[in-house]
Amino acid sequence: MSTPIANRTILVTGANRGIGRALVEEALHRGANRVYAGTRQPFEHPDDRVTRLALDVTDAAQIQTASESIEALDVVINNAGLAIYDELGDRAVLEQHLAVNLFGPFDVTHAFLPLLTRSQGAVVNVLSLASLAALPIIASYSLSKAAAYSLTQSQRALLAGQGVRVHAVLLGPVDTEMSRDLEIPKAAPADVARAVFDGLQSGEEDIFPDPMSASLAPEWDSGAIKTLERANAALISGTHENLTITFTVDRTPDEVFAAINDVRSWWTGEIDGVTDQLGAQFTYRYENLHRSTQEITELVPGKRVAWHVVDAHLSFVADKEEWTGTDITFDLTPNSAGTEVRFTHVGLVPTYECFDNCSTAWNHYIGDSLRNLMADRAA
Ligand SMILES: NC(=O)c1ccc[n+]([C@@H]2O[C@H](COP(=O)([O-])OP(=O)(O)OC[C@H]3O[C@@H](n4cnc5c(N)ncnc54)[C@H](OP(=O)(O)O)[C@@H]3O)[C@@H](O)[C@H]2O)c1
Repeated sequence: MSTPIANRTILVTGANRGIGRALVEEALHRGANRVYAGTRQPFEHPDDRVTRLALDVTDAAQIQTASESIEALDVVINNAGLAIYDELGDRAVLEQHLAVNLFGPFDVTHAFLPLLTRSQGAVVNVLSLASLAALPIIASYSLSKAAAYSLTQSQRALLAGQGVRVHAVLLGPVDTEMSRDLEIPKAAPADVARAVFDGLQSGEEDIFPDPMSASLAPEWDSGAIKTLERANAALISGTHENLTITFTVDRTPDEVFAAINDVRSWWTGEIDGVTDQLGAQFTYRYENLHRSTQEITELVPGKRVAWHVVDAHLSFVADKEEWTGTDITFDLTPNSAGTEVRFTHVGLVPTYECFDNCSTAWNHYIGDSLRNLMADRAA
């Protein structure tokens, strides 16, 4: 789901310089209503939409005072960060990194969560490619950013039920004080800030906003990390989350729309009936295990396909009609890498007996079969 910036209220930590400062400028440029600039030092900004908050992210009292001074918030950007070169020789250095880079975002998000829940808002954690693979020259930093990525994954799953989205920004080198001593190509903070808000506005869970990180983006959604993350998130017990599968393909929304409607090409089994006309019905059968009849209830070219399951029989569960009355939807959103496909089986929740088997099957048909079909058509 996308997060617009215009007329919204944004909090950026570590806002006085570097990437944080660029995020403040970009939020103002996109029409934010109010930008709270969390800083340790006195800070003034010429735009009267900016309000400074005294916010050392390691100071519990300051976090509490800051959260009590705000009435509304749509997005918190946990940007403040610390990086010291080390080789794991000193436990105190590791603790310093964890205090800022892990417990900082943890405590800030916790304090502002009631406001974010009320606004159905978003958390953005500014992380690093070192979250994914350690840089041994800054080992403690890498460790803290890996932990913060794990925090992001868990919060994403845990807060989804409260309507709060949690994004990771997986950054490569950026030209700021932090990377001053690195003699490698670096992205400009302003370019990174633009790409972060583009990602947020197009609903990307993990944002790759610079040339080095962007090289990971095309394969990311189908890779091992995201596949495991989705499978693990589905284990949250008692959740009422519908089964959802999201990925991005390097195709236009119209090409994706055409591939989805060509159901016989990717939902392998026997299919009777018409699959690409509004109001039509088709029946899917797989051996004697599964039979379901879908009515096509929405067909919006390049945007959305929805089917209503009017009748179903699953032989392998006690309640054979678990699918009856559920809905199957495909939402298409263009983004910088092509089209994001969000598949949802509305009503198929973890309390259903077929949830695990059906999740595995849908992951195969949607995550592999449909996705590969689109890749093959490109070839
Ligand atoms: N630059 C890169 O190459 C790069 C790459 C990957 C990820 N990142 C991440 O991007 C984020 C921003 O980094 P940057 O490059 O803009 O670094 P930077 O120029 O060094 O700025 C760091 C910011 O964090 C603030 N900060 C540090 N400790 C804090 C604390 N305890 N409480 C509140 N604020 C604190 C600093 O405030 P003071 O001015 O008061 O010190 C400053 O505003 C960080 O999370 C960093 O890990 C950067």
